[in-house]
Amino acid sequence: MLDLKDIPTSRLPSLVETIVWALNPLQYYERCREKFGPVFRIKIFGWADLVMVSDPEVVKDIYAQPRSSLLAGETNKILEPMVGPDSVFVLDGEQHSHARRSLQPPLKSQQLLRQGAMINESISGFLNNLDNGRDLSELFREITLSVMVKVLFGEKSLNTPRAYQKILFPLLGPITGLLAFVPPLRMDFGRFSPFGWYRGRVKAFSNLIYGEINAQKTIEELSASQSRSMLQHLLRLQKEDNIVSDEWVKNQIISLFVAGNDTSAAGMAWATYWIYSRPDIIQKLRYSLPRVDQFDDEVLNTIMQDKYLDNVYQEALRVLPVIDFYSRIRTDFCLKTEPKQVFISPCSFLFQRDEKIFNDPKAFVPERFEDNKFDTGNYSPYGGGVRRCIGIHLAEMLIKLTIFQLVQRFTFEIKGFDSVKPRRRNVILAPSKLIVKSLKFAEKMEPLATL
Ligand code: HEM
Repeated sequence: MLDLKDIPTSRLPSLVETIVWALNPLQYYERCREKFGPVFRIKIFGWADLVMVSDPEVVKDIYAQPRSSLLAGETNKILEPMVGPDSVFVLDGEQHSHARRSLQPPLKSQQLLRQGAMINESISGFLNNLDNGRDLSELFREITLSVMVKVLFGEKSLNTPRAYQKILFPLLGPITGLLAFVPPLRMDFGRFSPFGWYRGRVKAFSNLIYGEINAQKTIEELSASQSRSMLQHLLRLQKEDNIVSDEWVKNQIISLFVAGNDTSAAGMAWATYWIYSRPDIIQKLRYSLPRVDQFDDEVLNTIMQDKYLDNVYQEALRVLPVIDFYSRIRTDFCLKTEPKQVFISPCSFLFQRDEKIFNDPKAFVPERFEDNKFDTGNYSPYGGGVRRCIGIHLAEMLIKLTIFQLVQRFTFEIKGFDSVKPRRRNVILAPSKLIVKSLKFAEKMEPLATL
């Protein structure tokens, strides 16, 4: 296992290094790798030292470690004021394993495929209003939230997606990022102080979810056959084993909103950004994907298994991963010997651009996935080991169905394409803005060229 002593680091004082990193993390990673090699330390002021790892063998070794020797919950503690102390994010050990097991069944591929028509219809409804000047980054956040509300609460949720959006989107904004990374700001001086505002929002969001829990409980039957929404599933578990409280259920649901919404929306946005810079890729997708008036299970399966679409989806998450690093704490080292926390952080942005594995790594080349399955040490946009993302299938369905709808229905350009940059939104990297221009509808386009 990685020796944590003598890891090279920049001579910059930690405050300066934090600012340089925050302003342009990707460029800073590249500079550090060039100077120090595949393992280096970045000192984040007031939080922790991050040992950034992009050596594929070490990354694989990290994923292979048992949950007792590497803690991840501890590194996510900055999210605790929002997700609560018993969220799947912040727990470790057996409690984490229980929370994870409890959340997985409704997010399995087979379960979600049953909701494919609903997801497709939601995406389609939003895209009906697509117009010039629309910021796709924001539109995709709205689409994802609307789908998440249905997956989490069922199609007849008590509150509208708009009600959740009004509270959640500001909560996922820059004030929260600031509060997460600058602990002294976490003092509540009433609703006009940042932390007071933040706590008020978290409370309002929690109340919406408690409303759903209470409404669901008044519906008599929570039988197995009905348990399609996440909430129904969790309440059935609650009834069966009597271990978890309403607060626990509420905290897991907030965690899923926080983990799943902006990540999936950013994945959709990056995929769109790359595809709409390349008319040849749009052509190939149109040629490969079914052209249908009626959407049914067969069409859904064909889309989800389409090889070229899958290559495009995987390449979009490779060339610019939505989450550029994720962290663990090594129990035998850091907690005992270091005055400051030291996180071990696989840096997917760097290991997914490894020149030894990926030819021309900065280029968007879906074909590289045609006959290749890359090792987890070089390709893992959803993380790995016992903390690997549990929302993969939902994210994949959202991204693939959005691409399907877009390429079949529209051509457009991205305004100021060359000036679109990755922007940090809490822990994710999303495109700054993705404004639609020169929109045309499919029926007005030239017939497809035969490829
Ligand atoms: C493109 C979209 C997404 C990306 C790129 C993504 C990526 C990730 C990554 C990198 C991690 C950390 C893995 C690690 O530490 O090894 C993670 C964890 C997690 N993700 Fe996702 N995610 C996405 C969508 C979703 C969705 C839609 C949901 C929920 C419905 C979700 C729920 C979670 C949860 C609950 C965890 C914590 C798992 C644990 O600690 O055991 N994610 N995700």
